[in-house]
Amino acid sequence: MTRGRFITFEGGEGSGKSTHATLLAQQLKQQGIDVIQTREPGGSPGAEIMRHIILSGAAKHLGGDAELLLFAAARDDHIRNTIAPALAAGQWVICDRFMDSTRIYQGIAGKTNPRLTRALERIVVGEYVPDLTFIMDLPADTGLARAQRRRGNSQADRFEAEAPEFHEMLREAFRILAKQDSDRCVLIDAGKPKPAVFDQIWTAVRSRLGVGGVARVVEGAAS
Ligand code: TMP
Repeated sequence: MTRGRFITFEGGEGSGKSTHATLLAQQLKQQGIDVIQTREPGGSPGAEIMRHIILSGAAKHLGGDAELLLFAAARDDHIRNTIAPALAAGQWVICDRFMDSTRIYQGIAGKTNPRLTRALERIVVGEYVPDLTFIMDLPADTGLARAQRRRGNSQADRFEAEAPEFHEMLREAFRILAKQDSDRCVLIDAGKPKPAVFDQIWTAVRSRLGVGGVARVVEGAAS
């Protein structure tokens, strides 16, 4: 059995990751590819419990390194129970956020211990580095406004509630990462209309992962 492909979506708040992960999953299914969609933190029963703890802000007072360890524990559970079995069965895996969110949110913006950050990535992610990563690029204030509209009256989560400078720093750091790791990462202009954004994504999937077909963006997909 050939191992499936592993694709991740990364970027700041409200940058359209989830919408385009769903559109890509639909498009790949139309090509006859068996695909699962998952997310982080979460994506397995154990990791979803940890998602709740992390995003509620309950662990914030423990400090950045402790939060980093929680993300690592959640990722370990997610890889072992969801990602690894799917890839081994030949399925493609599309994941909304993965190791780059840790690098940027905890490592760069959160200033966690760099040795711990790198060591945890090496140990937890190991061979499960994504084949392709989309970095959805959008001005931080535009993304935050979108995220706020989406959540309505409910409270901002642990990271959305950070200061505007934190979110600007995320954007810059993601842009730098896309340049430094251009073999794996593709920077997407997420400020364009939805069909034009998806076009950039599908072009990259076709050229980098060798799947065929003309994109047919499904209108009205969940955002
Ligand atoms: P989201 O699912 O709505 O994108 O929320 C996840 C939040 O968690 C988002 O603010 C980014 C943050 N996050 C990290 O800080 N580090 C990580 O490793 C991951 C996966 C997410």
